[in-house]
Amino acid sequence: MVIGFLSVAQAQEPAAETKEPVAEKELSGHEILEKSMKGLKRNMRTLGRNLTKAESKTMCLESIRLMQGFVLAAFPHCPEPFDSVGKKDPAKWEFGFRRRMVNLAGLLLDLEESLGADDAQGVEVVWNKIRNFKKEGHQVYEEEED
Ligand code: HEM
Repeated sequence: MVIGFLSVAQAQEPAAETKEPVAEKELSGHEILEKSMKGLKRNMRTLGRNLTKAESKTMCLESIRLMQGFVLAAFPHCPEPFDSVGKKDPAKWEFGFRRRMVNLAGLLLDLEESLGADDAQGVEVVWNKIRNFKKEGHQVYEEEED
């Protein structure tokens, strides 16, 4: 959780001049988005390997909670439109990004709920939804490298 982590670091320092989170001052929006995506990937890998192991439940719940934080950190940092659809209506493009981030946060809450209730079938259903959601989000918002 980028902002949360940096805020904790800040809280341990002597009284700061400003209440602004450090992340907002020191990292660009693009850097926060990139770090958040990397954080999502890292924790998704942990989940992919451990979600079905009963003894790893606590660790998985922590990974899911971290992913929720990364999604919320990414929420305000929509990339600039790069294709004709996005460029034609930048407000709609940006709205679509925030809508997807909130929906992804919702799916991660669903995953937390299913895992917390030991509902293995629910976990599987939500996990597959998250994987598809990632794919669709990247098809629209991640620019292909040349
Ligand atoms: C759990 C779901 C997701 C995972 C695990 C994930 C993971 C990643 C990873 C690993 C990258 C490459 C980061 C890098 O090395 O630079 C990335 C980039 C990106 N993702 Fe996601 N992503 C997820 C969902 C989404 C969704 C739903 C959206 C959009 C609504 C999205 C938008 C983007 C964008 C715009 C980039 C490019 C960022 C940049 O320019 O550096 N991602 N994502």
